[in-house]
Parts: sequence; C-alpha cells; structure tokens
Amino acid sequence: MPPMYSLITGASRGIGEAFARTLASEGHSLILIARDLQALTALQQSLTAQWGVKVVVIDIDLRDPNATRIIYERTQKEGWDVDLLINNAGFGRFGEFDSHPVDDYVAMVQLNVTAPMVLSHYFLRAMRERGQGAIIHVASMAAFQPTPYMTVYGATKGFLRAFSEGLAGELRDSDVRILTVCPGLTDTHFFIAAGADLTKTLDAAPKMLTPDVVVKESLDALRRGTMTVVPGLKNRIVAFLSSAIPHRIGVPLAARILGRQFKDQPHQR
Ligand SMILES: NC(=O)c1ccc[n+]([C@@H]2O[C@H](COP(=O)([O-])OP(=O)(O)OC[C@H]3O[C@@H](n4cnc5c(N)ncnc54)[C@H](OP(=O)(O)O)[C@@H]3O)[C@@H](O)[C@H]2O)c1
Repeated sequence: MPPMYSLITGASRGIGEAFARTLASEGHSLILIARDLQALTALQQSLTAQWGVKVVVIDIDLRDPNATRIIYERTQKEGWDVDLLINNAGFGRFGEFDSHPVDDYVAMVQLNVTAPMVLSHYFLRAMRERGQGAIIHVASMAAFQPTPYMTVYGATKGFLRAFSEGLAGELRDSDVRILTVCPGLTDTHFFIAAGADLTKTLDAAPKMLTPDVVVKESLDALRRGTMTVVPGLKNRIVAFLSSAIPHRIGVPLAARILGRQFKDQPHQR
C-alpha cells in the first residue's frame, strides 16, 4: 500500500521543523512546505538518513493566493495521500497598526488565515471518505483576546482558532480529528521575523517553551482527542485569565504590556 503523508506548512524551521522531526521519528512520510528550499532540502536529507522515511519538499510562498491550489494539484498528480495536515506557517508584525505597510497585513491574512482554510477544504473531503485523518491548526495564545501592537496578527489567530474549533464541532461524530494548538512564547525565529524586542515587551511573560515541548503536547492532545491545547501549564493559566477578564480591563492592560517597547520611539510610517 502507498504511504500516507503528513503535510506540514512552515516546516523549514521552528515549530514546523519540530513537527517534522517528531513525525519522522515515528515513521511518518512527510510533505514539507516553506520558501527556503535549502533549509527544506537539508531537513529532508537529515530525516531520510536518520529514519529512512519518505520526505518530499515543495518550496512555495503561501502568501501567493495560487500556492494552495498548486500544492493540492501536485499531491493529486503524484498520488500523495494526506492523512495529517498541519497548518503551521505564519508570521506576525509588532508595532502600531499604521507603522507597517498595508500589503504586509494583506499577506499576513493570506498566510495565517486563507491558506489554512483553503488547504483544510482541499484535504478534508478525502479524509472523510477514507474515514481517517486529522488537521492541526497552529494558532496562538493571541487567539484568546485582542492584541494591541500586534492587532492584525492576533485577529488572524482569533479567526484560525474559531474556524478550527467550529470545524471540530462539525466533525465531532466523524473519524477526522481537528486540533487547535495555541502556543505561547516559543523559542523560534518568530519574534525576530516580527521585529519584536522581547526584553522590553514581554518580560513578565512565562519562560519560553521549546518547539519540541509544543509539538509533544500537541501530538499527545491529538491522540487524546482534545479540541484545543495550550502547551505549558503557565500558558494555560494565562490563557484562562485572558479569556475570563472582560475586554474593557484586558485590552488596556495588554496595550500597556505590549506597548512598552514603542513608547520611546517616534511614530514611523
Ligand atoms: N514562536 C512563538 O512564540 C509562537 C507563538 C504562538 C504561535 N506561533 C505560531 O507558530 C507557527 C510557527 O511559527 P514559529 O514560531 O515556528 O516561527 P518561525 O521559526 O518564524 O517559522 C515560521 C515558518 O513558516 C514558514 N513561512 C513563513 N512565511 C511563509 C510563506 N510566505 N510561505 C511559506 N512558508 C512560510 C517559514 O519558512 P520560510 O521562511 O522558509 O518560508 C518557517 O518555516 C506560526 O503560525 C506562528 O504564528 C508561534
């Protein structure tokens, strides 16, 4: 029988790479997606050599609205059946809303919102027909409340969480599982890419988790059939409080904490 594949977006580093390494160690065949072909190829060679699993890579920019269709058509043409889809790729921008070009936000919505929704639509039907499969959405703790100074990012993750949990509800009696992962601070390239100085901004936040811990808690949650997981006990407490505190209190508080690093800077456009 041909192998079933786990397809991971944003697999070239960080949390996506950790998913790839863990799943390869468990014998899964992989489709790895990101823009950095060199990093993807190095990971492919390392996983194939270490675990003897089949690994294919697709270097593509998911900010391109055609990318999801190109990925799906490639899997159909090659006969790569996907039974685990991990919508992980994403990026954020720190700063005042109007200090970044609007095109950045349009691209963020495409990558963080549209691409996961479209890929889920493409791959879900075959999973239902086979009576087997799972989709993991990597959202964020930013999905639990509005996030001043990373407003669009938080809104994209709020959408992703609502979409993913809604889908889990629709599929509650099916054999397809949907897991929403809401990581807190995790030690990856994310904050460098987002232009954030964490020493000024989030020094009160819990210590960063490693991508390996996020992935382990996520895969454990998937196997338990959990709908949503916040990796790390301290993060779970913060997520609970974020959900419980009324926005009229929580939003100004978040603005004070997240705005620290911008208060001495002149407004830039
Ligand atoms: N790190 C955190 O503290 C944290 C917290 C909460 C949620 N998250 C979420 O976790 C997910 C993974 O992020 P990470 O922390 O692992 O960050 P990361 O180290 O920056 O990794 C991001 C991954 O996404 C890929 N990617 C970025 N833009 C892409 C594009 N246009 N097309 C295709 N792939 C793209 C990157 O690969 P290329 O650059 O090679 O394309 C990379 O593999 C994101 O959705 C993020 O929002 C992270």
